[in-house]
Amino acid sequence: MLFKVAIVTMSDKGARGEREDRSAGVIRELVEQQGWVVADYRVIPDDFDIIKETLIDLVDHGRHDLVLTTGGTGLSPRDNTPEATLAVIQREVPGLGEAMRLESMKKTNRAMLSRAVAGIRNRTLIVNLPGSPRGARECLEVILPALPHGLEILTGRAGECG
Ligand code: MTE
Repeated sequence: MLFKVAIVTMSDKGARGEREDRSAGVIRELVEQQGWVVADYRVIPDDFDIIKETLIDLVDHGRHDLVLTTGGTGLSPRDNTPEATLAVIQREVPGLGEAMRLESMKKTNRAMLSRAVAGIRNRTLIVNLPGSPRGARECLEVILPALPHGLEILTGRAGECG
């Protein structure tokens, strides 16, 4: 089934053009391997209000099925992605963050430092991924097997969890 995906990179340096964004490329590759289409891609600063407005725009106007964010989930004072995500979602999907941390812990203890959250706004699933290309890949690979079914149910394209 074809899903419409947006990728948002949270990075002050990236938004200023001072850092190349390699994580989004990794995410795009994995998304396209599923046969899904990346319809929007943005690099924005780690600003709470800008993240919030961007996520609302991608959901309410862009009507994406899935919004994948990368970066801003750690412990620095400018890591605002989880809070901005929680401010726009209506329902949390805690299992996605739990699964990403559980599996990633097998690779690095630092996985517990990601505060990534996932949740639903209207008929869109928003998932936070870590900012490093490696972290983004490892986490997305953990949740990808469950996403098609979740998105089918969320978007009303499958009736039952049978
Ligand atoms: N998860 C996986 N699978 N692999 C990683 O290398 N890096 C961790 C963690 N999650 C990592 C990971 C590190 S070092 C940090 S600080 C946090 O994600 C938060 O990263 P972020 O602030 O770039 O989002």
